[in-house]
Amino acid sequence: MSFDRSIKIAPSILAADFANFGAECAAVEAQGADWIHVDVMDGHFVPNITFGPATCAAIRPHIKGVMDVHLMIAPVDPYIDAFAQAGADVITAHVEAGPHIHRTLQAIRGAGAKAGVALNPGTPAEAVDYLLDMVDLICVMTVNPGFGGQKFIHSQVEKVRTLRQMIGDRPIHIEIDGGVDPTTAPLVAAAGADVLVAGSAVFKGGSVSDPSPYGDNIRAIRAAAAS
Ligand code: DX5
Ligand code: ZN
Repeated sequence: MSFDRSIKIAPSILAADFANFGAECAAVEAQGADWIHVDVMDGHFVPNITFGPATCAAIRPHIKGVMDVHLMIAPVDPYIDAFAQAGADVITAHVEAGPHIHRTLQAIRGAGAKAGVALNPGTPAEAVDYLLDMVDLICVMTVNPGFGGQKFIHSQVEKVRTLRQMIGDRPIHIEIDGGVDPTTAPLVAAAGADVLVAGSAVFKGGSVSDPSPYGDNIRAIRAAAAS
């Protein structure tokens, strides 16, 4: 996984057909997705439940590129090895998920994955001040985590700008998660984000048997981000 700051579109399979994850991953990749974003929820850290490491391992062979696993679970540490063994390239944990995010990030890198840290909308950018030299990605939540299809929270654009300055020359991705579509993508891209997660805005209108809308949707977000 090489580092660059070009815009990467990362469809979230939270908006895919849950009975068809493998084919959905292959379809969005064939339609131009750069990364596949996998939302793991535990019904405890967030109010919704999705799936765990066994599902990640099952879909891994259907993904050619980066599998980006977003853990919305607490505790995190007991499950890191299982997600790494499932083939996650990036494992992101929330700074709010427990008292020991520093240890969690060490453990993620120790397991051989890239380490990501996610910030809820109410958490300030400064929460990552002392983590900058141990992360590969900072995920700015632009909705409250738990559900797809929510409205983008505009106050977070300023946080992205702050983080971009804090990062300086370090090889750290800024990922945006929640409410990304062609109207919000340009705001976060201009503020310094490079990985744009999008669930509903990518999967709307298409299916495994009719995947071309996925390509139209991905191109629309990418073009808007470049504008
Ligand atoms: C929210 C998830 C997001 C979500 C994004 O908890 O982390 O990845 O699926 O969905 P949209 O793009 O529909 O806001
Ligand atoms: Zn996510």
